[in-house]
Amino acid sequence: MNDQAETLRQLVSTHHHTSNPAVERTAQIITICSGKGGVGKSNFTLNFALSLQSLGKKVIIFDADIGMANIDVLMGVSSRYNLYHLLRREKRLDEVIHRGPEGLPYIAGGSGISDMFSLTEGDLNYFVSQMETMAQEMDYIIFDTGAGLSKENLKFITSADQCLVVTTPEPTSITDAYALIKVVHGSHPEVPFSLVINRASDEIEARETSDKIILTARRFLELDIRMLGYVREDQAVVKSVKRQYPFLLGFPRSHAAHDIQRLAALYAAVTVSGEHSVRNGIKGFMQRWLKRK
Ligand SMILES: Nc1ncnc2c1ncn2[C@@H]1O[C@H](COP(=O)(O)OP(=O)(O)O)[C@@H](O)[C@H]1O
Ligand SMILES: [Mg+2]
Repeated sequence: MNDQAETLRQLVSTHHHTSNPAVERTAQIITICSGKGGVGKSNFTLNFALSLQSLGKKVIIFDADIGMANIDVLMGVSSRYNLYHLLRREKRLDEVIHRGPEGLPYIAGGSGISDMFSLTEGDLNYFVSQMETMAQEMDYIIFDTGAGLSKENLKFITSADQCLVVTTPEPTSITDAYALIKVVHGSHPEVPFSLVINRASDEIEARETSDKIILTARRFLELDIRMLGYVREDQAVVKSVKRQYPFLLGFPRSHAAHDIQRLAALYAAVTVSGEHSVRNGIKGFMQRWLKRK
């Protein structure tokens, strides 16, 4: 068998749109990641996406946590079709995009992601063109990834435009977040990181937590990491998980909702001002992703 990765590379680089490139939008590809599991990534992803959407941004969530995908559970909806059906060309893109509260679009990863490398060239061509079509209509494509350093996770993280690392103030969560950053930075120093401190008791604790990571990364990796913001420890989050309804909508006046709205507004403002360059959007993402071993 020839080098399938090489075929994929060519496929992506020679793929052309029929639309006018001058009017194309390029979505920013964001991964939400963490070193340790259970730190609040999925809740963050969902409510961050809803916050961006409430600011008028076009957002889609891609549930890429292969083992523990649960964005749909947090929204109280179920997804009949997922990435698998798209990859097999059994369903079109619009058929695998499901809608959560406020019409928030999302795609469930299902088992599809791990099947990527058994696909025919035709399957992949279709997938790439569908993804590119989708990206033209979006401002942000947000991947909720699994915790830690699995191969699949690293492929997403190192391919994306931006990685938001979620950690709690717990020492184990901090050290695992730093370990993730260190590994990613070691192989792909171009990936920009931002920090989100979840379950902080207050701003002071959030700052102390982020400073530990930021100062260590600066000292030992010569890497600048931005502190994006924090979300306080809040029972509204726990209640919302049980109710299967996002806290931003169910408890809009809660601390958690307030914090994430502020964080999303800051993120949207910074992105618009162009501080973080898009690494060629979905096309760059797909090229890098398919290339990674
Ligand atoms: N800000 C918060 N305040 C209180 N509890 C939280 C908060 N964020 C997350 N949790 C708790 O942590 C649990 C795990 O969150 P989840 O988003 O599923 O984590 P992950 O996706 O990282 O595994 C939630 O079910 C909730 O009980
Ligand atoms: Mg999760």
